[in-house]
Amino acid sequence: MPLPVLSAPPERVDIQLGERSYPILIGAGLLDDPASFAATPAAASALIVSNTTVAPLYAKALRAALASRFRTVHLLELPDGEVYKNLETLNLIFDALLGHGSDRKTVLFALGGGVVGDMTGFAAASYMRGVPFVQVPTTLLAQVDSSVGGKTAINHPLGKNMIGAFYQPQLVVCDLGTLQTLPPRELSAGLAEVIKYGPIHDMAFFDWIETNIDALVARDPAALAYAVKRSCEIKALVVGQDERETGLRAILNFGHTFGHAIESGLGYGEWLHGEAVGCGMVMAAHLSQRLGGVDAAFVARLTRLIERAGLPIVGPALGADRYLELMRVDKKSEAGEIRFVVIDKPGSAAVTSAPDALVREVLAQCCAG
Ligand code: NAD
Ligand code: GLY
Repeated sequence: MPLPVLSAPPERVDIQLGERSYPILIGAGLLDDPASFAATPAAASALIVSNTTVAPLYAKALRAALASRFRTVHLLELPDGEVYKNLETLNLIFDALLGHGSDRKTVLFALGGGVVGDMTGFAAASYMRGVPFVQVPTTLLAQVDSSVGGKTAINHPLGKNMIGAFYQPQLVVCDLGTLQTLPPRELSAGLAEVIKYGPIHDMAFFDWIETNIDALVARDPAALAYAVKRSCEIKALVVGQDERETGLRAILNFGHTFGHAIESGLGYGEWLHGEAVGCGMVMAAHLSQRLGGVDAAFVARLTRLIERAGLPIVGPALGADRYLELMRVDKKSEAGEIRFVVIDKPGSAAVTSAPDALVREVLAQCCAG
């Protein structure tokens, strides 16, 4: 059962994308409230896609909330983990949809973290060339980042999130109560994506996170509510200007070039995505310093905050050659040249290439071994 943590009406942040606009609702107790789903398109059937961890906690409540809107609500429980974010698991969603005779109006509900959300979104984008879907994120990471903005994907053994589509949900419902059952490591992983928004866009938010990091780690409801809302506002601003990442949106990948190399270099699931991003931000901050965007005090401040969030700040010893090889597979790479998101001044980010020698220096400084 979701744990109610606040009784205030939900906060609302809008993603403005013309006819693909949609609201993000943020609050406690939203999951089991039918009113949260009033904007869901009319259809005969719905499929809730979740996993073996989240479904036992929250699927019953969501099903009950959807009962008055759909004649049938089916549930699919996927295996849990980044390692299952692949073609084989995606096919289980298609099997369920076809097995239930789902039509073009069937609405998919992604109930879970970013793995479930990314896979369900991609299934929605491609089943019958596109069916509506709703994100019901239950991790901090998914509430502040992955459920918002329409990036959907699965992993390929040769690269993370390499197969996917831009496909916007119709609605995002962030029930803050679900964060109370998250394992501590997962909460920290989500904090990495919250922290990210400070250096790239909003140093006042960065100051606020520094002041409130202990409250966030302790899951103070009011602190979490503000962190989710402000993160969604910043993401909405960026996505509203550059939905398909032709430019600006790439700043949301601060720390991700190094982070994705850590994730795929160690094998998906070894480090959590947020952990790899946290450590990747430390590396990207050092690179930013070497390129003249920030000073050593800024790097130390960011590193300290990432550490206080419970995240690793020393990269695994994959070897510089392997890091460079993995980073060349990143989606931002152009003609084999790695592109990094760097801080060009605190609160502002840019995408740039960097000489391999400089990147090697950063890796030598930031990795174990
Ligand atoms: P996740 O989906 O693996 O969830 C983390 C773990 O927490 C899982 O074991 C899950 O079952 C469990 N869980 C989820 N909600 C829970 C709850 N309320 N209580 C208890 N356990 C719960 O991981 P994540 O960090 O949410 O997402 C990471 C994924 O998101 C990565 O695959 C990453 O690539 C992707 N991502 C996508 C975007 C995007 O824009 N689409 C952005 C960032 C990350
Ligand atoms: N998480 C990065 C993006 O949505 O663009």
